[in-house]
Amino acid sequence: MATFTLPKNSTISKGKHYPAPHGAKKVRSFKIYRWNPDDGENPRTDTYDIDLDACGPMVLDALIKIKNEVDTTLTFRRSCREGICGSCSMNIDGLNTLACLKPIEDVKGEVRIHPLPHMPVVKDLVPDLSQIYAQLRSVEPWLKADTPPPPDGERLQSKEERAKLDGLWECILCFCCSTACPSYWWNGDRYLGPAVLLQAYRWIADSRDEATGERLDALEDPFKLYRCHTIMNCARTCPKGLNPGQAIGEIKKMLAERQV
Ligand code: SF4
Ligand code: SF4
Ligand code: FES
Repeated sequence: MATFTLPKNSTISKGKHYPAPHGAKKVRSFKIYRWNPDDGENPRTDTYDIDLDACGPMVLDALIKIKNEVDTTLTFRRSCREGICGSCSMNIDGLNTLACLKPIEDVKGEVRIHPLPHMPVVKDLVPDLSQIYAQLRSVEPWLKADTPPPPDGERLQSKEERAKLDGLWECILCFCCSTACPSYWWNGDRYLGPAVLLQAYRWIADSRDEATGERLDALEDPFKLYRCHTIMNCARTCPKGLNPGQAIGEIKKMLAERQV
């Protein structure tokens, strides 16, 4: 698969302009990053002027309208359109977020849309997530237990044990956090990044899991975990209000405690 990494200081050429329909009164410009691996062209920014009186309220509504009515070649991911699936993550107005949860009215002036930063691009707004999913697989994000479950039912937790998973289970794997993390930008091949580390902690913190020691051993590595420098971009950008930096801090604390 051909991929393209968004260049940091490169010029993105001016692209096509699609004006709003005649008579439109509430017009907003959407400036959208375009890149097609198959046409041999440099990336460009296309401008779509959209009549907000004929469009839903969210940025994803505008993207769907553009694709359906203006330019079918525009490529982006989406599925649930209500902040559950994590597929519509992108950089809107300079912030990584979910297009389906981002009201157009929250953006002042033109709406600038890019793919998640510092990731290879498959096409237009679609990042290549192969590496980050391989990293997710590496932390084995599933329950590991040798003890069989009780014969008469499920593995139970107390209310207190269950409460420890709050702030973790809500993660929808949109990767807004990892792609906002400077440490992940520079060391993403070896540093696992906030999204994957939050997933790792979600299982470390689960009272039913019996692989805590093994999971901690696997993370005790100068790159996988300790590249987090508590810059906290991750918590600032998470569209679900989670705090991966704090989860990373909990893992570091557990590792430090078992050394004393
Ligand atoms: S707190 Fe850690 S994971 Fe979060 S943005 Fe900063 S360096 Fe990255
Ligand atoms: S922690 Fe938040 S930003 Fe990061 S992947 Fe999960 S939901 Fe997305
Ligand atoms: S479309 Fe599912 S989170 Fe936006």
